[in-house]
Amino acid sequence: MPAISCSAPGKVILCGEHAVVYQKPAIAVPVFEGSTKCSIVAKPTAPHDETIIIAPNIALKCYLSCLVEKHPIRVAINLVLKKLQLDHLPVCEIRINSTLPTAAGLGSSASTSVALIRALSTFLGSSFADEEVNQVAFEVEKIHHGTPSGIDNTVITYAKSLFYIKDQPCEFILPGKQVTLVIADTGIKSSTSKAVSEVLLGYQENQDRFEALFNQIGDLVVSAKKSFINGDQISLGKTLTENHMLLQKMGVSCDKLDVLVDFALSQGALGAKLSGGGQGGNMIALVKSDEADIMASALLSKGAVNTLITHIPAKGQ
Ligand code: MEV
Repeated sequence: MPAISCSAPGKVILCGEHAVVYQKPAIAVPVFEGSTKCSIVAKPTAPHDETIIIAPNIALKCYLSCLVEKHPIRVAINLVLKKLQLDHLPVCEIRINSTLPTAAGLGSSASTSVALIRALSTFLGSSFADEEVNQVAFEVEKIHHGTPSGIDNTVITYAKSLFYIKDQPCEFILPGKQVTLVIADTGIKSSTSKAVSEVLLGYQENQDRFEALFNQIGDLVVSAKKSFINGDQISLGKTLTENHMLLQKMGVSCDKLDVLVDFALSQGALGAKLSGGGQGGNMIALVKSDEADIMASALLSKGAVNTLITHIPAKGQ
């Protein structure tokens, strides 16, 4: 039997992270330059009659039964089986390969879930529709991140840029002019759930201050959406940089993110900010497309450990 393979992209949050957990809007875009591939092949004659999971980039190679009950991969598999009203998985080998760095704000956990859920539902003869993939991936995200907004699994499932408000239908948006982002990794691993719970702590200690920050970010996202759709990159860039300053006030930036953001701006970026949970991970710089390579090299020279360049094609391109 041939292997079933499904892939899912990564993502960056263009604007609005953290505030999106508090019902404010955010914009996210898929990143196809990093992705996860899940391949499943039946192994009816496998030794010990056991399904094996192989995921080299998270150093995982074990029998499914050896994963703890709450392991996100095990939970994803059980949720797919439950949805299909199956009580067991035919013995198989599940391989998950990802080029996305983990704990870096690029959606590696949601990308893994989406690729796995798609591949497994197909392997079991009933390919899930996007809505079903998204719903299961959201349940798995709760294990990874505690109280996620759902933006990561949604942008990765649909693989389209979107304007998102928690618990509301998302709106797919296309830029009026091609958007080019240089994504630079600080190399500092950061846990989204830790950052989200620290923001919650800050909110509980000083509700007025955090509510004001969330509202200001919400307003910036609405203005970023207009600039994105109208192709006004100057105004979009300013909005992204202002968003970074509000995230600094929220306490989710770090020295290296600030250094890379300031440096990108000094080198001519139209705007720059951290992206995702923060406290490490990746930053993004909005640039003119013909300046992306130079910006990527400059950010590497300033201490970024890796860079990706992604283009979001304009409407009609
Ligand atoms: C993570 O990509 C974005 C956060 O806002 C968390 C979430 O929305 O679930 C930090």
